[in-house]
Amino acid sequence: MAKIGTDINISLKLLNRSELVGIPTETVYGLAANAFDPVAVAKIFKVKDRPSFDPLIVHTSNLEKAKSFVDKIPEKAYKLARKFWPGPLTLIFNKKEIIPDLVTSGLDTVAVRVPNHPLTLQLLKSIDFPLAAPSANPFGYVSPTSAAHVNEQLGDKIKYVLDGGICSVGIESTILGFDGDEVVVYRLGGCKVEEIESLIGEITLKVNLSSNPEAPGMLESHYAPLTPIVIGNINELIKKHKHQNIGTISFKDEINGIDPEFQFILSKKGVIDEAATRLFTGLRELDALNLQLIVSEYVPDVGLGRAINDRLKRAEAKRN
Ligand code: TXA
Ligand code: MG
Repeated sequence: MAKIGTDINISLKLLNRSELVGIPTETVYGLAANAFDPVAVAKIFKVKDRPSFDPLIVHTSNLEKAKSFVDKIPEKAYKLARKFWPGPLTLIFNKKEIIPDLVTSGLDTVAVRVPNHPLTLQLLKSIDFPLAAPSANPFGYVSPTSAAHVNEQLGDKIKYVLDGGICSVGIESTILGFDGDEVVVYRLGGCKVEEIESLIGEITLKVNLSSNPEAPGMLESHYAPLTPIVIGNINELIKKHKHQNIGTISFKDEINGIDPEFQFILSKKGVIDEAATRLFTGLRELDALNLQLIVSEYVPDVGLGRAINDRLKRAEAKRN
């Protein structure tokens, strides 16, 4: 198992030796390596069992620092970064040569984000290289929102997880790209579309379910537990699958006829942001119960609800 602790110096030493470290962010935990070091970055793909065509997000402590490795920052990006960084927003820029092709899967763009977590910001401020970090889960599985989640799945492959507690947002960052004057959403996430639009006007959604190599963030089957999951009207789905051993994930209500032990309620008060922080924990907990089927429902499709519903759809798509 990896050691779990809050020691920045241990993390620094490992990163300087081309090793990986689990790092906390406000969205999900990352599996970090020196983004300028191809040997270290190659280890990320190996440990996650991640296909090399799926590029990584590069983390840094502010936009000024990002200028050493990105080119041609659009005016709208300055505006977005000023308002949302540090925070759950990833921006796609043209990359400079110093970013290895392995990080971007050969694309000439690089995804960049300033995470809003005190420990990781402290770490980022004390190094002169950015950190490439995908979510710290095996490829295709549910993202980790605690240090224990990281250790459960990758603990035998890495040495250290920097423990920053439970992720406060709980769902991955929103990814935006720039196409001329147009701003395109490649992944719905922790930064709300409504807030982005109130800052820069209308943005274009390109987050369809199909696997699209043009927008690699959008691989269809993703974020999925091992237990099959179906999404819709919970009571109807339970009736339809009544011969099965079922667990439920509901937005706010208790479900009649299902043992409370097999139920996960995202937010008893019906608060969508709370539901986001608990979604991945719910998927993991039910996945550990040896159920035949997880039945869930969509949450209201506003704010972080859009990102939650996107993750549920992708989890369901894995089995179809
Ligand atoms: O919240 C987050 O973004 C977390 C934390 C650790 O920062 N990271 C994360 O990384 O979710 P990952 O690797 O699980 O997802 C990053 C997504 C990938 O699906 C990838 O396809 C997309 O970002 N991506 C990376 N670079 C890209 C690029 N240049 N163009 C389009 N999509 C890109
Ligand atoms: Mg991921």
